[in-house]
Amino acid sequence: MNDSNRILSGMRSTNPRLHLGNYEGALRNWVDLQNKGFKMYCMVADLHALTTMYEESAEASRNAREVAKDFVAGGIDPSRSSVFVQSHVPEHSELHLLLSMITPLGWLERVPTYKEKQEDLGSAEREPYGLLGYPVLQSADILLYKPYGVPVGRDQAPHLEIGNDIAARFNRLYGREVFQPYKYLIPEDELRAKVPGLDMRKMSKSYDNCIYLSDTEDQTAAKIKQAFTTPTKIRLTDPGQPEGCAVCQYLRLYSPDWERQWEEDRQGLRGCSQNKKELTEILNEYLRPIRERRALLDDAAIEEILCRGAEEARGFASKTLAEVKSAMGMF
Ligand code: TRP
Repeated sequence: MNDSNRILSGMRSTNPRLHLGNYEGALRNWVDLQNKGFKMYCMVADLHALTTMYEESAEASRNAREVAKDFVAGGIDPSRSSVFVQSHVPEHSELHLLLSMITPLGWLERVPTYKEKQEDLGSAEREPYGLLGYPVLQSADILLYKPYGVPVGRDQAPHLEIGNDIAARFNRLYGREVFQPYKYLIPEDELRAKVPGLDMRKMSKSYDNCIYLSDTEDQTAAKIKQAFTTPTKIRLTDPGQPEGCAVCQYLRLYSPDWERQWEEDRQGLRGCSQNKKELTEILNEYLRPIRERRALLDDAAIEEILCRGAEEARGFASKTLAEVKSAMGMF
């Protein structure tokens, strides 16, 4: 592998707010890695957001500020980690262009997320050229920082593989070891990696089933009250099926006492409203420090953090880009 102590990761700014799934599946790992001493580059991918939001480009940019606030609220410390917006570091766009020249089309056409997005967009008229290049831009994001590893959700694995493949192809084509392979840091806990929504479908803004990091205590309580539980558990004494109940799934994530709670639920010794009440307390307690940090971050504060973050990121990225051009004999 390599002896880098850097980590790069990113999230698209398609939504202004991060939800519990984004936190458990990604951001929490970033914070853990930061606290283990890795140098973190935490990027808001506003250019990637444009692949689907090109008609709402200003919104993608505004969202980027809000997502960055959630990074910091979630525990990313801007005095140790670099928090930046992708389009503020133009090296990403330039490396993307150079890498696009050496990436075989076949590698991109096979990517499963490309096929899905293509179907979502419907007609080829609506499908931008940039969507096909999505993994190439992501590879540029990563390779600029020569990272030890990249923490992401499982759905991103195909993109990470393309990055290592492009790196190896670059080294071979230009006869220099500019890039070393990086690791894929994917969460092991299945439930953490895939937090269900309040209705047990995938947690997603489009299903309106999210708990957001920036929700208030009352909003969280109201959402949990409406959450999906065992449909056949009408009375307290009816047996529950915790595996299929959103409230029980969250208890398993957040309650130290979840095994007893599940057993009582199963045996009809406790009702859904008690589960909901206990979960609301535990979850609001868990989210309290995140909400407190977010309340302290105004627009000016995040603008300053992003400005310093981009400067620091450019410091590293520009050196890599210079090496790339030198290997290619471009001056
Ligand atoms: N594609 C990632 C996502 O959808 C976001 C992303 C962009 C990313 N560039 C990255 C993740 C680089 C890891 C590394 O969530």
